[in-house]
Amino acid sequence: MSVSITREDWGSTADGPVDRYVLDSGNGRAAILTHGGVLQSLEVPDRSGARANVVLGFDRLQGYLDNPDPYFGAVIGRYANRIARGSFPLDGATYQAPINNGPNSMHGGKTGFDKRLWSATPVDGALELRLVSPDGDQGYPGTLSVTVRYTFTPDNELRIDYEATTDAPTVVNLTNHSYFNLAGEGSGDIYGHLVRIDATHFTPVDVDLIPTGDLSPVAGTPMDFREPVAVGERIRTGDPQLGFTGGYDHNWILDRAGDGLAPAAQVTEPIGGRTLSVSTTEPGLQFYSGNFLDGTVTGTSGRLYRQGDGLALETQHFPDSPNHAAFPSTVLRPGETYRSTTVFRFGVTDEA
Ligand code: BGC
Repeated sequence: MSVSITREDWGSTADGPVDRYVLDSGNGRAAILTHGGVLQSLEVPDRSGARANVVLGFDRLQGYLDNPDPYFGAVIGRYANRIARGSFPLDGATYQAPINNGPNSMHGGKTGFDKRLWSATPVDGALELRLVSPDGDQGYPGTLSVTVRYTFTPDNELRIDYEATTDAPTVVNLTNHSYFNLAGEGSGDIYGHLVRIDATHFTPVDVDLIPTGDLSPVAGTPMDFREPVAVGERIRTGDPQLGFTGGYDHNWILDRAGDGLAPAAQVTEPIGGRTLSVSTTEPGLQFYSGNFLDGTVTGTSGRLYRQGDGLALETQHFPDSPNHAAFPSTVLRPGETYRSTTVFRFGVTDEA
């Protein structure tokens, strides 16, 4: 069975009209906006076949414009997560990205890719989004040409392929910032979701969530998700190693072998039975348990999003890599192509 793609008008921003594309697989539906490349809605069945929208977001464009801070569902660029004080060296020069998170630059700066109008073309049952980020955009060097392709399959696999090229040396770290709630967005917190992360190490951070540079074992810490653990289990005990954010907001170093797609994480919602398996070509995974959601924002189905009402699994290179020569490099040079793929596969389990 093939996936149908339909387009509808979804309002406009100062940059122009925004479209919403719906990819219908017959077994589920994914909706994507040209504003920010946002995954606005993703409906998949539970074990009884009942569908629910499992990503946090808004039912109107205005919601995204009024509430950019959670980055619901958006494509993040040029640099996902933080760059310490927004400053980084490259080929002997120092570059400065805008400070927009404490003393640091986060998610590409003040006007990252999540706030841009992308052009969209349906291609072979997928939706291809394109953006050209000019030289000097948010302080980053080089004209960066970016393609993000969303593919949704009849067996409810959402695949995101990223590609980028540049005309001058630069740094790139792209991801998608969806918050999942496998019981359905707006249904409550995700602390009962079971999470496994395929990582024996993580990158500890300082008080501003910048990596210290250490690669620490997860064993004996609240970061140990090598076997499935309920998200809330160690948050509720207030483990001091989790820091001040009220939950998880850390980068795990995936135990990957080779360059291809490798397992990153598995999430199970035991009551309805929906599961999510994440695999990626990236070396890292930011697992964020929605700590900064605070009950002030009303989501897609009209319910408030409170702390822990969604979890993000952001496949990425490590935060602040441009300032850590020992981390996998995020440098992209002319003539090279940045390529990254992440697959979010939805299913169900019979086990309650
Ligand atoms: C960051 C969080 C941040 C969230 C939403 C995550 O990627 O690690 O600290 O609050 O994005 O902006």
